[in-house]
Amino acid sequence: MKKDLLSLLDLTPNDFEHLFKRAMVLKDRHKQGIYDSLLAGKTLGLIFDKKSTRTRIAFETAMIQMGGHPIYMSTQDTQISRNEPAKDTARVLSRYIDCLAMRTFDHALVEEFAASSTIPVINALTDSFHPCQILSDIMTVIEHKGSYKGVKIVWVGDGNNVANSWVNAAAVLGFDLILACPDGHGIKQEIIDAAGADRKDNIIFTNDPKDAVKNADVVYTDVWASMGEEDELEGRLAAFEGFQVNEDLLSLAKDDVLVLHCLPAHRGEEISEAVLEAKNAAFWDQAENKRHMHKAILESLIRK
Ligand code: CP
Ligand code: NVA
Repeated sequence: MKKDLLSLLDLTPNDFEHLFKRAMVLKDRHKQGIYDSLLAGKTLGLIFDKKSTRTRIAFETAMIQMGGHPIYMSTQDTQISRNEPAKDTARVLSRYIDCLAMRTFDHALVEEFAASSTIPVINALTDSFHPCQILSDIMTVIEHKGSYKGVKIVWVGDGNNVANSWVNAAAVLGFDLILACPDGHGIKQEIIDAAGADRKDNIIFTNDPKDAVKNADVVYTDVWASMGEEDELEGRLAAFEGFQVNEDLLSLAKDDVLVLHCLPAHRGEEISEAVLEAKNAAFWDQAENKRHMHKAILESLIRK
């Protein structure tokens, strides 16, 4: 039976471990200039409703380097924009391509595509989740800290799609995650309930960023207004005061704290220029790892 990757709750701990190991092997082979034609003759479709630099290009280059082909479709250029039902589009695309990566607003839309497709569907970001991002982020944590186990990971900022996927990852893998979000911008109860997060000792919710980052090994942040929420930013700035990841806040974390951001970043809002431009910043390794992780994801779903 085909498998989809819509949420990290779809994965078992073994699935995670396999993807981390495989992405690292593929990264190593890439560094040696070795490309295996693992997906020769296979085609990945990408339907994106929202902008993307990293996720789109990481998927496209991953596919090309594995001997396959990507086809990018802006929703506007397809009949979806003229109201062809998702279930019809999904059934038709299943006859042409081998896998579909989607970036949408409503998470229900990727679920609808997955339900009607005979090919694997990958969530390349929805308003609710960004699973592929967190897979490559944990890979980056492993590279820098040796493991995600025994590491204190702190989210500082908006309880958004990226944060939700961190909650799901911590729920499945059991690592220590503290989420510091302003009142009114925390993780929604339905996300907490679905992950069973309030029954887990390893996941803590707070609205105090200073307390949260004390002795942190990893501090992660993301924009204060996600795609589709840009109009709300002005009204949110006051609520997010004190939540900027800057040198002051990071002075409370461990000396060798790893700072992560999925990017794109808004300098002077959720993160300071100095932190973003720090000499040993890992953001660029983090972005690179998306390609290696996307290869591992594509291989596991398409070659199954
Ligand atoms: N981090 C991330 O998903 O970036 P893009 O929006 O550029 O794909
Ligand atoms: N939370 C951000 C992530 C972008 C990669 C957004 O959804 O816009």
